[in-house]
Amino acid sequence: MSATIRTTRRDADALVIFGVTGDLSYRKIFPALYHLVRRGRLTVPVIGVARAGWNRERLVERMKESLRDFVPERESAHVERLAELLRYVDGDYREAGTFRALREALGDAARPLHYLAIPPSMFQTVVGHLGASGCATGARVVVEKPFGRDLASARALNRTLHEVFDESSILRIDHYLGKEPVQNLLYFRFANTFLEPLWNRNYVASVQITMAERIGVEGRGRFYEEAGAIRDVIQNHLLQIVGLLAMEPPVRSDSESLRDEKVKVFKSIHPLEPRSVVRGQYRGYRSEPGVAPDSNVETYAALCLTVDSWRWSGVPFYIRAGKRLPVTATEVVVDFKPPPARVFGDLAPDQPNYVRFRLGPDVAIAIGAYAKRAGPAMQGREVELFVCHEQPDEMDAYERLIGDALIGDTTLFARQDEVEAAWEIVDPVLGSGHVHEYLPGSWGPSAADDLIVGRCGWHDPGADGRHWTRSCGGGTRIVHSAPNGPSG
Ligand code: BG6
Repeated sequence: MSATIRTTRRDADALVIFGVTGDLSYRKIFPALYHLVRRGRLTVPVIGVARAGWNRERLVERMKESLRDFVPERESAHVERLAELLRYVDGDYREAGTFRALREALGDAARPLHYLAIPPSMFQTVVGHLGASGCATGARVVVEKPFGRDLASARALNRTLHEVFDESSILRIDHYLGKEPVQNLLYFRFANTFLEPLWNRNYVASVQITMAERIGVEGRGRFYEEAGAIRDVIQNHLLQIVGLLAMEPPVRSDSESLRDEKVKVFKSIHPLEPRSVVRGQYRGYRSEPGVAPDSNVETYAALCLTVDSWRWSGVPFYIRAGKRLPVTATEVVVDFKPPPARVFGDLAPDQPNYVRFRLGPDVAIAIGAYAKRAGPAMQGREVELFVCHEQPDEMDAYERLIGDALIGDTTLFARQDEVEAAWEIVDPVLGSGHVHEYLPGSWGPSAADDLIVGRCGWHDPGADGRHWTRSCGGGTRIVHSAPNGPSG
């Protein structure tokens, strides 16, 4: 990519980061800014705002600490270029003076991009001051998740934002949408002829999505107590994946057509009923700092969604997310129905053909099929056609999303109707229902097994993309793909 880019009228001419001294900036935003500078995609001033009593030098120091921790291979010329772009405004978000100072720091900038990396409780205050100080004129705003804590609060938050910004200027972040393998789901579905004719209720038996994390709440107990797995990752990341898997082909590739199709999927999903949800909590969660000793917050949730559309009616979508599970991995498995007749009599009817998308931490696409075992008998064995999809210099989600926000491309950000429709699905089961205890390092409460209809149970991702297990008909099997084979 060239070191210079042409600016267009929609390009932001300044980036303002509220919460620049916080954890998100440290872990995600500075590394993303470094890569944007490296690729020549960030050339405008970056103004950090916080109430920390810092100055520009301290901010530059913090940026360099962040890069030391998160960008092991960096070039000092790009680090210095980013340092030159940094400005700092210190002040309380509740005081008009802070925003007057910001307006001054913005100078001639007429199209600033404001990034709210701050607790949602501060959104209303900051947005109000941005409007009153003139900093919102010609501007766009990026809002971090969580976007509300239920349908009512998400609607209220949208009203607050709309008092100052119109919908086309609001970019709601869901970092899963910025991930390369998540984008690939959409690409793979619609760029290949062979999949689409099978991708419907006539051939698909069920869809499973598992987002497993080995870590627990890692010091975020106080935040997690307000969230739980359904609010934290299911309402947003996993429903977005469902949207991409289940949507119809968009009529065009522009941002609105794509988001229209996702909204249709969300609207076709029945709001959850308690009997379709199993909630779990890992043993030891209640002793984490910031967690109530009698907490009923779920660190695990498994659910069955009914997507009542022409394409998907009758196909269960099973979704599962949990902390302190055996591995960290996110996988999608689409199981096909068996062939209409067992011509060779040897196929186990409960071990289906499938497509498997490994979305992280390593990335793979696999197709499960049967092939004849060499020998005199017409007997088969399972094989996996496996593609490891790793590309050098892949963009991190935050780099992609901030880059898109700078040029005003809203495709990978959640629209108001999308966010509200997703809340409508989970709203009836938020914060209610029995929580089953499960052991750290297990696959969660066994009650979740009862959600799955049929003899095949949950698909458990392996520690790497080549292995996974699933219990079928009571037994557990392990599928190995070509070990160390060539991958493309
Ligand atoms: C965040 C959640 O949105 O996503 C965290 O708040 C979770 O609880 C994280 O750990 C997972 O993101 P990733 O990119 O590591 O899969």
